[in-house]
Amino acid sequence: MCRPAVASRRQKKPASAGFFFCAAAAPVIHSPQGVPGARVWLGGPMAVSEGSSIVDACDGAARPHSRRRRCTVAAVAVAGWLAAAALYAQAPADEPTVKVPYVPTPWPVVKAMLDLGQVGERDFLIDLGSGDGRVVIEAARTRGARGIGVELDPDLVRLSSDEAKRLGVAARAQFSRQDLFETDLTPATVITMYLLPHINMALRPRLASELRPGTRIVSHDFGMGDWQADAQVKIPVPEKSYGPPYSTLYLWVVPAFVNGIWEGRYGETGQYRLDLRQQFQRVSGTLTIAGRSAKIEATPIAGDRLAFSAVLDGAGGVRARHAFDGRSQAGELVGTWTVTALGAAVTAPVTVPARAVRAESARKP
Ligand SMILES: C[S@@+](CC[C@H](N)C(=O)[O-])C[C@H]1O[C@@H](n2cnc3c(N)ncnc32)[C@H](O)[C@@H]1O
Repeated sequence: MCRPAVASRRQKKPASAGFFFCAAAAPVIHSPQGVPGARVWLGGPMAVSEGSSIVDACDGAARPHSRRRRCTVAAVAVAGWLAAAALYAQAPADEPTVKVPYVPTPWPVVKAMLDLGQVGERDFLIDLGSGDGRVVIEAARTRGARGIGVELDPDLVRLSSDEAKRLGVAARAQFSRQDLFETDLTPATVITMYLLPHINMALRPRLASELRPGTRIVSHDFGMGDWQADAQVKIPVPEKSYGPPYSTLYLWVVPAFVNGIWEGRYGETGQYRLDLRQQFQRVSGTLTIAGRSAKIEATPIAGDRLAFSAVLDGAGGVRARHAFDGRSQAGELVGTWTVTALGAAVTAPVTVPARAVRAESARKP
């Protein structure tokens, strides 16, 4: 079956005739301009049955748990990705949003994605654009996680469900034909995706605001602009069909929303005001105690964990470092407050409980 990699409810011509075509007998291998030595197959999704040479050429590694090795595979060029992006840009508003070609994540990279996301049996994973379902199935099979894959291509949805059944994980790995942009993300503790830069960017506001703090997002090969990843790894993929011979994986841990002004107390009598400015996991701001203010130094927010400190002059002229270490919980900042006197009047640090509530709300990033 030949069709463009970009499925559309309303059939439309690809932007460039050269990008999406099928080779019935053999894959078409090109060297994309500016990518020396890179081999790419400019084709759309193809169902490839056992024995086809395309399976290994495109997939990089055979399915570890399938004796049939039946696999729906495709490899696309950098040019293919860009063509998809161009199509996306041209699509009228009422067009469906499927503009990402099907390219399966190689098996070693699937494992690395699950490792990076620390996926375990307590997790609920959503793979956005799940292809043949391998990420969700592998999470269920090897980590005991539950999850769903959402995918627009009905053949891939069917293939995924069949494979989950065959491997005995159908209760934990489920698939539906659904637009990822219309998917409820809130049940997820882990999101995985292998999409395109502009799709990641289009999803970013929802990922940042709808997911619970601490939810892990793992993306294969594409970042999210100025939302810097909390961790990044490179996995060798010598047979990679586009770009350099490795995959880059990005991990973000969704930060709590702490932007805004807080009023708090520490110990029996201490009072403070905190003006926080948040850019994803990075925070800056000002701490004010007894009419004196100082800029804070904060570590990046890790899920719901917030830690900052500031040095202020006290009423008696004693400088002290004030440090908060705690969590954003149910709309409050709850943790400990440590005061360390500085200079000549050095005394042992004093740690007391601290709590703050919002004085004003601010817009989410
Ligand atoms: C690069 S493949 C990744 C497949 C799989 N996640 C993996 O890592 O092996 C991207 C998949 O996203 C699907 N897709 C693209 N746009 C989509 C959308 N709007 N909603 C759901 N799936 C989509 C494509 O059909 C394709 O199968």
